[in-house]
Amino acid sequence: MNATQGGSGSGIVALRSAGRGDIDAIEAIEKAAFASVYERFGRRQILRMIDNPRAYTAVATLDGRVVGWSGMLTRTVAGVASARLYGIAVHPSAGGRGIGRKLAEDGIRAMRQRGARRIYLEVRTDNTPAIGLYRSLGFVEVERLPGYYTTADGVRMRLELDAVSP
Ligand SMILES: CC(C)(COP(=O)(O)OP(=O)(O)OC[C@H]1O[C@@H](n2cnc3c(N)ncnc32)[C@H](O)[C@@H]1OP(=O)(O)O)[C@@H](O)C(=O)NCCC(=O)NCCS
Repeated sequence: MNATQGGSGSGIVALRSAGRGDIDAIEAIEKAAFASVYERFGRRQILRMIDNPRAYTAVATLDGRVVGWSGMLTRTVAGVASARLYGIAVHPSAGGRGIGRKLAEDGIRAMRQRGARRIYLEVRTDNTPAIGLYRSLGFVEVERLPGYYTTADGVRMRLELDAVSP
């Protein structure tokens, strides 16, 4: 994790592991980033992620204020480790300055270090910003998920970690 200056606005962006003290900020980000209660993480789910040793949760700060977070989870099936991007969100007030990309890249690095061979995620088919981010990171669409969300279809995407450079 690192600190960098810049992006499209001013301010110092830094990433660090999420802790229990970040729950209020993460909950506020989820509320601001997702219109539907069915699609955002609630307090209990966020806590479970932070406490789960198989999870990797990170927050992004902008001038010391928590403005983004991401959560990934590893699992091993038949000896093959894979990961799932469970959640990623940046507060709208801090969007468009590269913070989501930093969070995703950091999570991908962490999953690679933990031995994951691939990363999966699900996203609404109409979530253009997120799909744009995932495609630019090398994710490809592997499955359509009709009715996956209450108000939209979903798509499952996969990143093969063997196929992209570290
Ligand atoms: C998706 C999200 C995390 C991106 O975070 P961000 O900090 O705003 O994104 P970044 O500034 O890092 O941009 C990264 C890439 O996302 C895509 N992107 C971001 N905003 C976009 C927009 N409004 N339209 C299209 N693509 C967009 C672009 O590919 C961009 O790459 P570029 O800068 O090279 O053009 C953020 O929009 C968000 O929190 N959305 C709501 C929550 C959500 O939908 N999470 C994903 C659930 S699966």
